[in-house]
Amino acid sequence: MRSMKIGKSGIEASVVGLGAWAIGGDSQWGASDDTQSIRTIHRARELGVTLLDTAPAYGLGHSEEVVGRALLGRRGDYVLSSKCGIRWDIKEGALLMERDGVRIVRNSRPERLAEEIEMSLRRLQTDYLDIYIVHWQALPEFPCPIAETMGFLTDLKKQGKIRAIGASNLTPGQFIEYADAGQLDLIQEKYSLLDRAAEDRFFDLCAQREVTFQAYSPLERGMLTGKITADTTVAMTLAKSRIKWFLPENLPKIAALGDHWAPLCRKYQCTMTQLVIAWTAAQGTGSNVNALCGARKPHQIEENAKGGELVLDAVDLASMRKDAEAIS
Ligand SMILES: NC(=O)c1ccc[n+]([C@@H]2O[C@H](COP(=O)([O-])OP(=O)(O)OC[C@H]3O[C@@H](n4cnc5c(N)ncnc54)[C@H](OP(=O)(O)O)[C@@H]3O)[C@@H](O)[C@H]2O)c1
Repeated sequence: MRSMKIGKSGIEASVVGLGAWAIGGDSQWGASDDTQSIRTIHRARELGVTLLDTAPAYGLGHSEEVVGRALLGRRGDYVLSSKCGIRWDIKEGALLMERDGVRIVRNSRPERLAEEIEMSLRRLQTDYLDIYIVHWQALPEFPCPIAETMGFLTDLKKQGKIRAIGASNLTPGQFIEYADAGQLDLIQEKYSLLDRAAEDRFFDLCAQREVTFQAYSPLERGMLTGKITADTTVAMTLAKSRIKWFLPENLPKIAALGDHWAPLCRKYQCTMTQLVIAWTAAQGTGSNVNALCGARKPHQIEENAKGGELVLDAVDLASMRKDAEAIS
């Protein structure tokens, strides 16, 4: 597994990360088997995947608890990131969503983050996080200046509770506010072969400010794994229902893409998943893109990890982009 620097933090992490959203289960992804999730996390490390991403919001604490159990006695083997700024246990904040009868709000005010970090550390059974990411940004109806949030996170860093600061789901303007207010080392944004909008918004900024671009949902929540055929009946959960590629009329387009890339898979002796992961990690400038892939089964991380070892020729990278552009 290749590794990369995370911003200017001095942290080195695997170019493929393991995302633990689905490990949280609940209606977003459907029930997860915790024993299998823990095996997936352990298998990841055996394969060189050090970067592990979770959040309080994933299963409303459940993902962090499972990750905490998995990391007992092995904490130092992983680069662990979690997030802040989303609460379901308080009323104050801007509404993010209402789910399963629970009201989930955005609130990144320092006094609330001070509570959140302690809850995350407790669930994760650790005394520090490697990367702490503001999950969703404040809204005008419940504002919080980014400089205040950043000031608090910088204090957490001085206290040794976190090693690097990240932010997610940003506008370019918010990126600049973070980077001007302190040391921003990573941003986490939705990015895949089929959803490339983030590259125009962030790739230049990341290169100029030495910030790692971490691509989330690079597999389009399982759609780009070659397991979907034109006739596949997909068990839709909330997370998948937000991806347009799961609509029945789009399934044949993805299946055709898989068929079209079969010669490339033969050339590199890899699967479609690995091709897609290698393509994602090859974007950006100076190896600054991290491919954060979700997995909750050992066979998935086994397949995904190999994508982090694969290097594609420039001509193949360009032709894959052209193929994706033709349908998206
Ligand atoms: N900052 C944010 O707002 C944000 C938002 C979304 C995600 N994220 C982070 O990014 C991570 C990745 O994104 P994601 O989970 O949305 O999407 P993803 O990585 O595109 O897809 C993950 C899903 O694809 C399926 N899958 C993965 N590897 C596979 C394989 N080799 N073969 C077949 N199926 C495979 C699994 O679905 P099944 O489990 O159903 O089999 C898995 O849960 C998350 O886990 C989370 O850590 C962050």
